[in-house]
Amino acid sequence: MSSSPSVALVTGASSGLGMGLALRFASDGCAVALAARRADRLDALVERIRGAGARALACPCDVSDREQVYAAVARTEAELGPVDLLVASAGVGAMTPAQTLDAADLEHILSVNVLGAAYAAEAVLPGMLRRHRGHLVVIGSLTGYGGLPTSAAYSASKAAVKNFFESLRIDLRGSGVAVTVITPGYVKTEMTANNEHPMPFLMELDDAVEVMARGIRRRVPHLSYPRPLSTLTWIGQVFPRRFYDFLASRVRREKGE
Ligand SMILES: NC(=O)c1ccc[n+]([C@@H]2O[C@H](COP(=O)([O-])OP(=O)(O)OC[C@H]3O[C@@H](n4cnc5c(N)ncnc54)[C@H](OP(=O)(O)O)[C@@H]3O)[C@@H](O)[C@H]2O)c1
Repeated sequence: MSSSPSVALVTGASSGLGMGLALRFASDGCAVALAARRADRLDALVERIRGAGARALACPCDVSDREQVYAAVARTEAELGPVDLLVASAGVGAMTPAQTLDAADLEHILSVNVLGAAYAAEAVLPGMLRRHRGHLVVIGSLTGYGGLPTSAAYSASKAAVKNFFESLRIDLRGSGVAVTVITPGYVKTEMTANNEHPMPFLMELDDAVEVMARGIRRRVPHLSYPRPLSTLTWIGQVFPRRFYDFLASRVRREKGE
């Protein structure tokens, strides 16, 4: 988009990357709709944003419920105006080791991380296409490039959401609607707060938000950060698989697991 977005809908806005980006957009003068389940958190953020003179709306919803996502988009458009920036940041993670595999965990993680993002894109896209203006942003993960130990469901969800939005991006070429796929490494948020495994190149939330806000402003098609970990991740993909498995499994062994 050559001009700045005027209305942004951010899912997963009650904490972490989504919250950081929503506050950032608001401080840049964009009206923001905040979607997540914890309504009390959203209300507090809306108060803070309005107190600083910007427009904001709390849209409590569960993104794995398609009707709730549609209702959140409809409310946003009625109260703030047409959504020209969607940031799909809502996500969940959980340990899903092969030894205790339970497909219910996979269903839950896919329903939030993949379907939740897809429902939001589905709901905003028709309007964006009519207006020939819009920007879809999804927060994937470097984990989406290769399986990591004990993370089968999360890794699969992040591979799926990356490819889903990459395909949309190709379909939407020339439509006026841009797509940005962001694949972060480790960032200090609630999601990583209790991780016991090593988190190389762990970033502060503000630094991550700064990197993402810059990429979103430039409407880059793809953004991976931090650079050292994204480079290692890409190199890992050309390793012979036996070598990759050995290195990935070391992450756990070093913790004595
Ligand atoms: N932190 C990292 O190192 C890292 C690295 C790579 C990718 N990511 C991705 O970045 C995104 C944001 O994660 P984060 O690190 O900011 O973690 P976070 O602080 O735990 O934020 C997750 C957000 O998702 C929302 N959410 C979870 N389930 C939801 C549901 N069913 N419906 C609506 N909202 C839901 C949560 O809000 P409620 O609980 O209020 O619903 C929260 O706002 C995720 O997609 C994550 O996979 C994070």
